[in-house]
Amino acid sequence: MNARTADETTDTGGLWPVPPALPAERRVAFVPMTEADLDLVCEMEKRAYAHPWSVRHFRDSLAAGHPVVLLLGEARPGEVSVSHQDGRVLLGYMVAMRGVDEVHLLNITVSPDHRRQGWGRFLLDALVLWSRGQGAHCLWLEVRESNAPARALYTRYGFHQVGLRKGYYPDGPRDRENAIVMSLLLDRPAPGNVS
Ligand SMILES: CC(C)(COP(=O)(O)OP(=O)(O)OC[C@H]1O[C@@H](n2cnc3c(N)ncnc32)[C@H](O)[C@@H]1OP(=O)(O)O)[C@@H](O)C(=O)NCCC(=O)NCCS
Repeated sequence: MNARTADETTDTGGLWPVPPALPAERRVAFVPMTEADLDLVCEMEKRAYAHPWSVRHFRDSLAAGHPVVLLLGEARPGEVSVSHQDGRVLLGYMVAMRGVDEVHLLNITVSPDHRRQGWGRFLLDALVLWSRGQGAHCLWLEVRESNAPARALYTRYGFHQVGLRKGYYPDGPRDRENAIVMSLLLDRPAPGNVS
């Protein structure tokens, strides 16, 4: 395999396929998250969000059997980033939940050190492939109204707003923030390249 293909496609037992096009010349692998990764992931979670998931959110997701997947990349000399135990760099992670014929994206995070390099789109590509493999017809998610980068990613990817949940998210001790509900139909051809 060359640098534009994943080095460990068997890491997830073939359940989490690696999309054909990688955004950068870097060897990557999808690895199921385990208890041993909790500190690392929570550290990144705190860097990524004003209202991060707690360790309990991740533990509950693991206990519920939801797919919780890390995207690891080979480290590069001089790279400042959070590292996986084996020396690889944590590029991002995702948590999803299967429904009857749909998949709910619960968390998608790209390391602050690796944003705007196509990894968010890459994670979504993998999620779409995996969801189709599960027989899902639809992907859906909630996003904070104020989260412009995520909304831009989803919209560019082909998600459409299908609802609004008022005051869905906590926002400080007293305030609440609306959630935009977005969905992507999977029965159509692949959403395509957003670049
Ligand atoms: C949202 C997030 C996952 C995007 O990841 P990313 O790897 O930077 O996104 P990509 O590089 O794949 O961007 C793909 C497209 O999304 C849009 N986009 C992504 N970040 C953007 C930003 N900050 N501003 C505007 N558009 C943005 C662009 O259209 C971009 O294409 P372009 O770079 O060719 O213009 C990342 O910013 C993140 O982890 N944020 C914190 C966690 C979070 O908010 N998660 C979503 C919770 S609902």
